[in-house]
Amino acid sequence: MLKDQDRIFRNLYGQDDWRLAGAKRRGIWDNTKALLELGQDNIIEEIKKSELRGRGGAGFPTGMKWSFMPKQSDGRPSYLVVNSDESEPGTCKDREICRFDPHMLLEGCLVAGFAMRASACYIYIRGEFYNEASNIQVAIDEAYEAGLIGKNACGSGYDYDIYLHRGAGAYICGEESALLESLEGKKGQPRLKPPFPAACGLYGCPTTVNNVESIAVAPTILRRGAAWFAALGRPKNTGTKLFCISGHVNKQCNVEEEMGIPLRELIEKHAGGVRGGWDNLLAVIPGGASVPMLPKSICDDVLMDFDSLRAVQSGLGTAAVIVMDKSTDVVEAIARLSHFYMHESCGQCTPCREGTGWMYRIMQRLVRGQAELSEIDLLLDVTKQIEGHTICALGDAAAWPIQGLMRHFRPEVERRINEYRGLKAAE
Ligand code: NAI
Ligand code: SF4
Repeated sequence: MLKDQDRIFRNLYGQDDWRLAGAKRRGIWDNTKALLELGQDNIIEEIKKSELRGRGGAGFPTGMKWSFMPKQSDGRPSYLVVNSDESEPGTCKDREICRFDPHMLLEGCLVAGFAMRASACYIYIRGEFYNEASNIQVAIDEAYEAGLIGKNACGSGYDYDIYLHRGAGAYICGEESALLESLEGKKGQPRLKPPFPAACGLYGCPTTVNNVESIAVAPTILRRGAAWFAALGRPKNTGTKLFCISGHVNKQCNVEEEMGIPLRELIEKHAGGVRGGWDNLLAVIPGGASVPMLPKSICDDVLMDFDSLRAVQSGLGTAAVIVMDKSTDVVEAIARLSHFYMHESCGQCTPCREGTGWMYRIMQRLVRGQAELSEIDLLLDVTKQIEGHTICALGDAAAWPIQGLMRHFRPEVERRINEYRGLKAAE
């Protein structure tokens, strides 16, 4: 369990003042100039050494991503864009940072932007996060007023502006290239990659898109040292992580824990355990709606980090832990997610636009058992046609929950079909 002195997020529950005075009491903006004086390349090296992996879901190494930004300008400005369009079902960790520690995010924006030689930073926040956007704007105004950002930020000689942009409620705008399109004032549709944003991002300029949590932890890593961060968690899965625990637990919560904590310990120590006890557990989605669910037998000893969860054909994703006890209709739960992806598909590529609808319609029939047994394999085949054949990861995200359902709960799906047939035959 994470020791108190290793906690990075000191106002996760909003018990302290979120404004500048409170942030300073928690050590935020404490001699930030000294962090900048480490120099751009040293900052990136330190983040690389910490082995921080992106906290938005994909787990791409953050320091490496920063190092893709050009060191010499070719005349184009470059940008840092913070992805605060948090919309993954079950996920509400970035919301808490924006709400209760906006200065922590802003200090991270300055340090990261400086390291990448960015001219400005845009924070793209989910439209529904009205109060959080309001807090961030207050914090931006306070930071300008105090000389922490803007001209000669923190007395460093570096000029750096931070702008806040509110989204309009589309899940797909959380995909980084759709977000950039949206920020440019266009319809939020993903771009083909490559080129990646570091080569051609916002307004065709070098851009890095990072998740809120990834940026917010950077100043603490620099203050306490990469070695301290890398010693937490497990090799290649270092540091602390915000987990969002929801569903059939006794106390839903957000909590900061060490990477690699056993799933069972996470749920029992922080969320009051599974409703009705651990033996009443049916399944867990360990990383937000896009990753495949795991049955209890795997949950008994799986560790919560990128590589451990990948090894059991799931993923850490956004670390949103959705707990389902034995009262859950697991087929209906996944059908509900299928509806979500069908609704949120931007419609740009055929496998996703047509496939999400197909999958949802078959799932709907499977919920009632009104299907042929052969349709299970047909459905799995459709998921394979979508996976890896679309412009962005939404297609994969729609396919994977269904694959997880069939991998672990196929007998339940077959039982329904057989039961329905039996009823029909008896009529
Ligand atoms: P990705 O793996 O394609 O990319 C991750 C990051 O690494 C991106 O910034 C990308 O530009 C960069 N990258 C990857 N390969 C690169 C290369 N060869 N060169 C340069 N840069 C490279 O994953 P993606 O599509 O950005 O994210 C998918 C994840 O997002 C899912 O696993 C899911 O967990 C998560 N997600 C999170 C949501 C949220 O609300 N936080 C919402 C929906 C999905
Ligand atoms: Fe749009 Fe889906 Fe294609 Fe992504 S995979 S670009 S959401 S149609």
